[in-house]
Amino acid sequence: APALLMYLAIGYLLGSLPFAVLVSRAFGLADPRSYGSGNPGATNVLRSGNKKAALFTLLGDALKGVAAVVLARSLHAPEAVVALTGLAAFVGHLFPLFLKFKGGKGVATAAGVLLALDPLVGLVTLATWIGVAAISRYSSMAALIAALTAPLAVGLSGGEGSRLLVVGLMALGLIAKHWANIQRLLAGQEPKIGAKKKAA
Ligand code: G3P
Repeated sequence: APALLMYLAIGYLLGSLPFAVLVSRAFGLADPRSYGSGNPGATNVLRSGNKKAALFTLLGDALKGVAAVVLARSLHAPEAVVALTGLAAFVGHLFPLFLKFKGGKGVATAAGVLLALDPLVGLVTLATWIGVAAISRYSSMAALIAALTAPLAVGLSGGEGSRLLVVGLMALGLIAKHWANIQRLLAGQEPKIGAKKKAA
């Protein structure tokens, strides 16, 4: 059990790295929690108008999810522990130690975890996200649909039980964190990708 706790702590700390805030600071931009949706994530950083900062945020938040899984695997953790380490990174992004536990919505980090756990399912899910985003221009809708299809894809691919559980829990967490987005989508008030403003 101490070993499991160590993996969870490492995953959580990695996931807690708030790239939206760190990258914005490095670029001299306003804190993303102060404008747009107020969400510390790549979609909201894009509302600053700085595409490069948004891209670095996306990559940073995804890579920390990849890193958690790759690290656990390189330490030869059992596959269930590897999956739980990824889940811990996702939880860290949603409730980060470094932002008084007020984090993001988990899209990029879940994508990174999923890509590292199962590259094929990860790529299919990523393609779903990109396809829906390209057609609808709603980042949140793309994330929600990808979150619904990801557990299905893991199940169909015959992924082991712990992986299905972790991906299912990430999907639930992601959907719960998008509650305000869901209400805006239903009300026709969700801003499209790259649109500058919309108050939280
Ligand atoms: O990355 C989260 C995205 O799905 C929604 O972000 O800022 O539009 O609430 P936001």
